[in-house]
Amino acid sequence: MSLKDVEQMYALHSKFYDITRWLFVWNRNKAINKLELNEGNTVLVVGCGTGYGFDKILEQIGRNGKIIGIDYSKHMLGKARQKVQKNKWNNVELIQADAAYYKTKNVDAVLYSYSITMIPEWQKSLRNSYDALNKGGKLVIVDFGEIKTPLLKQLLNWNFRKHNVDNHLNLRKELVNYFDEVDVTQYCFGYNFILMAIK
Ligand SMILES: C[S@@+](CC[C@H](N)C(=O)[O-])C[C@H]1O[C@@H](n2cnc3c(N)ncnc32)[C@H](O)[C@@H]1O
Repeated sequence: MSLKDVEQMYALHSKFYDITRWLFVWNRNKAINKLELNEGNTVLVVGCGTGYGFDKILEQIGRNGKIIGIDYSKHMLGKARQKVQKNKWNNVELIQADAAYYKTKNVDAVLYSYSITMIPEWQKSLRNSYDALNKGGKLVIVDFGEIKTPLLKQLLNWNFRKHNVDNHLNLRKELVNYFDEVDVTQYCFGYNFILMAIK
């Protein structure tokens, strides 16, 4: 898994991402709800892709809130930019960056929606997110886990590898080192999970 592979894959996949992903990328709205956002919050969306969920986040944070969306793929970010312009969202900032090297401060919530398993230097990215969060701020991660059923597991793991996804990350072990609370809920026999951590 390398950033070059990610960029190449999304140069193609960005063209049909929004019309296909709902088929297998589940629980994204549930993850946004777990952020429990308030009016005026600043939300960092790491690996924001085409901007899925921006509308739902903006409904909750209002005009005084702010989204910072970062993504490595200029093609995915291009799609997000189109959405931002079309909807005249002037409180969304889009940044092209590798999440492992992007640092900011004073955010109330961080969302990784199906991105952490693709970030080669994921530990660095998580540490940056921790540093960016205000005390009491929330980190929510929704992503693919490891399904328990043996045959299906092999098939899915093969497919994940093909799509630059590493679904074996031990996120809890990493995050308990610096977050106060870490809670993981698995869905669909482990196919995906939502992790919530509080600083
Ligand atoms: C499966 S898409 C998810 C997009 C969006 N969050 C969603 O829920 O639809 C994964 C995204 O993570 C981005 N990504 C992967 N590695 C990254 C990195 N190191 N830094 C920033 N973005 C990265 C990819 O470019 C891609 O847009």
